[in-house]
Amino acid sequence: MKKIDVVLGLQWGDEGKGKVVDVLTPAYKVIARFQGGPNAGHSLVFDGDRFVLHTVPSGIFRPDSVNVIGNGVVIDPVILMDEIRAIEQKAGSITGKLLISKRAHLILPTHRMLDAASEAAKGKGKIGSTLKGIGPTYMDKTGRNGLRVGDILSPEFQDRYNALKQKHFGLLSQYDFEYDITDYEQQWMEAVEALRRFSFIESELVINDYLSNDVPVLAEGAQGSMLDIDFGTYPFVTSSNTMSAGVCTGLGVAPNRVGKVMGIFKAYCTRVGSGPFPTELFDGTGEELRRIGHEFGATTGRPRRCGWLDLVALKYAVMMNGVSELIMMKADVLNSFDTIKVATAYEIGGEQLDWFPFENGEQVKPIYREFPGWKCDITSVRRYEDFPQELKDYISFIERETGCPVKIISVGPDRKEIVLR
Ligand code: GDP
Ligand code: IMO
Ligand code: MG
Repeated sequence: MKKIDVVLGLQWGDEGKGKVVDVLTPAYKVIARFQGGPNAGHSLVFDGDRFVLHTVPSGIFRPDSVNVIGNGVVIDPVILMDEIRAIEQKAGSITGKLLISKRAHLILPTHRMLDAASEAAKGKGKIGSTLKGIGPTYMDKTGRNGLRVGDILSPEFQDRYNALKQKHFGLLSQYDFEYDITDYEQQWMEAVEALRRFSFIESELVINDYLSNDVPVLAEGAQGSMLDIDFGTYPFVTSSNTMSAGVCTGLGVAPNRVGKVMGIFKAYCTRVGSGPFPTELFDGTGEELRRIGHEFGATTGRPRRCGWLDLVALKYAVMMNGVSELIMMKADVLNSFDTIKVATAYEIGGEQLDWFPFENGEQVKPIYREFPGWKCDITSVRRYEDFPQELKDYISFIERETGCPVKIISVGPDRKEIVLR
């Protein structure tokens, strides 16, 4: 019997999950998303092309892979069908290699409006949501009002859709917010019809069956651990469990069937949207990171906030996820820096902490340790031995602090720009 391996982000998202899953897929047969929805933007770069996936698992371009959208995911049919069309232009039909859980919840056009209305009403306190309707859809899921993929097959689908829409209209009337869903609703209904060519499945049974038959399965996380609804920087988080625990509920896999947990982090740190970010840089160095790292959102195009690596938050994420190995991304972005800093502790009200506290607002001051930069181009390096000593020292320090080996180092966006240890 196989165990399910997991790839997930340890920071505030955009760590490079799409690239890593694409690189690892040849060793797996099945790739499954377990939470999140089109708030995700996972970039894949190969053969001179760049793809951004939002709902479809990042194994989709590999021949013979099976890609499962699990029950924990929320789906906007319009965005999913747009994505499918773009993939099929490059890769041909994916009808047979994309399976969708009947239990996955649907994002209605009015969920998007509720997301936008709620954000507008929050003013300066807004979350910085991607406005894809994620929060309102998960609210309807936990409130037991949601519509699911399996409901599309019911003769009552249209009636249930209308009833939920009317409920949303009632909620929207409490906001000073203008909207018109006519066009989007039409596209939505067309996309729902178009989706019927895919298999809607009991994904929990299918995945457990694969594992029982020794078929290797990889779970692909979205967002990052610090955006987790329970353990992230609440309320500036997303609405799902982004940590490894989410694999159990989002795919129906028992905890004792979870295998390796591969945690991804950038060699520095970014965040998009509002909320605490202790190591954020507001100076030229932050701008350099943004410029060299092309740190602009894959889903919304918004500039990402940039800063140094935060080991306090990283150690917390390693513990909470049970990370067994680390993957470091975008090391190449630091090529030209004279010195590289890492936060090893926080100072809060004169007290020093090396663990991640409940209080994580502006009162947190990071305490840094400095490392000399390597000042050379590592993009073409393919063997760990060939890395400059300064980078090896930086990696060793992270391994010592987290107690986890760094098994993969990414040195560029392309599929081939990777060093496996
Ligand atoms: P994800 O959401 O975790 O899949 O990450 P995103 O795709 O949103 O953001 C990662 C960005 O960094 C994308 O533009 C990738 O093409 C790019 N990228 C991934 N790995 C590397 C790397 O090692 N070096 C550089 N320079 N870019 C990378
Ligand atoms: P991937 O999978 C980075 C952030 C938003 C906002 C907060 C809530 O590409 O790493 P939501 O739309 O979920 O209600 O937004 O979470 N956020 C992400 N940030 N990467 C993502 O996904 C994100 N998905 C959501 O910017 O701050
Ligand atoms: Mg992303």
